[in-house]
Amino acid sequence: IPVDPFDLVIFGATGDLARRKILPGLYRRFCDGQMPPEARIIGAARTEQDNAAFAEQVAEAIETFLPAQKRDAKGLAAFLERLSYVAVDAHGDAGWEDLRAAMRENVVQAFYFSVAPGLFGALAERLHHFEIARKDARIVVEKPFGRDLETARALNATLATHFDEAQIYRIDHYLGKETVQNLMAVRFGNTLFEPLWNAQYVDHVQITVAEEVGVGGRGAYYDKSGAMRDMVQNHLMQLLCLTAMEPPARFEPDAVRDEKLKVIRALDPVAPIDIVRGQYKAAGGHAGYLEDVEAEVSRTESFIAMKLHVANWRWNRTPFYLRTGKRLRARKSEIVIHFKETPHSIFDADAGNRANVLSIRLQPDEGIDLRVTIKEPGPGGMRLIDVPLDMSFADALGPEVADVPDAYERLIMDVIRGNQTLFMRGDEVEAAWGWTDPIIAGWEARGDRPVPYHAGSSGPEEAAILMHRDNRRWREI
Ligand code: BG6
Repeated sequence: IPVDPFDLVIFGATGDLARRKILPGLYRRFCDGQMPPEARIIGAARTEQDNAAFAEQVAEAIETFLPAQKRDAKGLAAFLERLSYVAVDAHGDAGWEDLRAAMRENVVQAFYFSVAPGLFGALAERLHHFEIARKDARIVVEKPFGRDLETARALNATLATHFDEAQIYRIDHYLGKETVQNLMAVRFGNTLFEPLWNAQYVDHVQITVAEEVGVGGRGAYYDKSGAMRDMVQNHLMQLLCLTAMEPPARFEPDAVRDEKLKVIRALDPVAPIDIVRGQYKAAGGHAGYLEDVEAEVSRTESFIAMKLHVANWRWNRTPFYLRTGKRLRARKSEIVIHFKETPHSIFDADAGNRANVLSIRLQPDEGIDLRVTIKEPGPGGMRLIDVPLDMSFADALGPEVADVPDAYERLIMDVIRGNQTLFMRGDEVEAAWGWTDPIIAGWEARGDRPVPYHAGSSGPEEAAILMHRDNRRWREI
């Protein structure tokens, strides 16, 4: 279904995120017929260039970042016609009158701040001063949304000077991933799971976001962030919230976000013994972390594993184990619910009793898998095995449906539709930092150093021990 006509201004249109994700994503939505003929995309950045030069850049970005089967030449030409470009000076007056002249009345108005957070204030100020942004304009901002509670609060305050919360769309692209939304569909669209989704039936939950890539190329940013700020505070926290939250009364922005916020607020502080920080070292032909960030020493973690407790009735004493890292054996992200064993087994001890496991695979091969116990076929007596009730989206729905849109495509269209459900509210971001800050402060106060792990492995031995202590094991990466 096409969205309403819009003017979307992308600040930082020549930057990396715009080239990699935003513009190719918009092009894909265009090809799918979701963009009405009146939709316009206006690139804005410091560089002086004309529309044609910008269009050429965008064409090049699409060719670079989209595989051939996702492009078509005719569509590309028509898409490029939607684009225009305005050079603006974020710190001065140049270009802003031109931008105002480019905007139309009576269409949805959205401004994507694909720039460093340090520029948010200057952009907001000028959109206001030059009377460009209307009262119903939408503002899209990206992570990093601060690096601690104080900076996040300052950013929120800056945006709040000129915009209402209902106008602000804070992107966490994990919320745009198809399977993440499916987590809500599975939980709240079936009667099967929700009655069991609690401490009485769930033994523990594992959330893994494992990456194969290292930090090469982004070293300067990453070394100041580390896995906690780069991944846990935002992406993993969002996955945890959607897994642990109470059913919202409606699938509506504030109903969902209220429930997520309650989860963050219910988190117990994490004891140092329940956290493992790792840093990869050279192995298997891969450079080590220090080489990648071009530093001689660094206490930044490229891996983190932790055990958390959501201290409420539903999750009383049910541990949530979270793990994420770079340069691991494989790219694999999943949320896995390990159910308890049956309260009493009627079978012999050597039958091999098993517990049910529900895994929600984010990437690659999005899908859902439930392991159920059955009898091993054959005459050998009652021996139990578990078999998958597996739904790979690609197998079940066909390759076309499985060719799911990139998270950004979905989220940008939600901005145009005016739907904030999959965006973070200011208080959520602040609560997540409020939980993260003392952990990081503790590391700094203690001079904590990450433990080494081999590039291409499944992380440090200490992470395995974190689980063994509780008589549990991580799923294989
Ligand atoms: C980004 C992080 O937010 O998410 C990156 O800054 C990380 O370090 C990326 O690689 C992972 O996203 P995806 O969609 O590839 O899992």
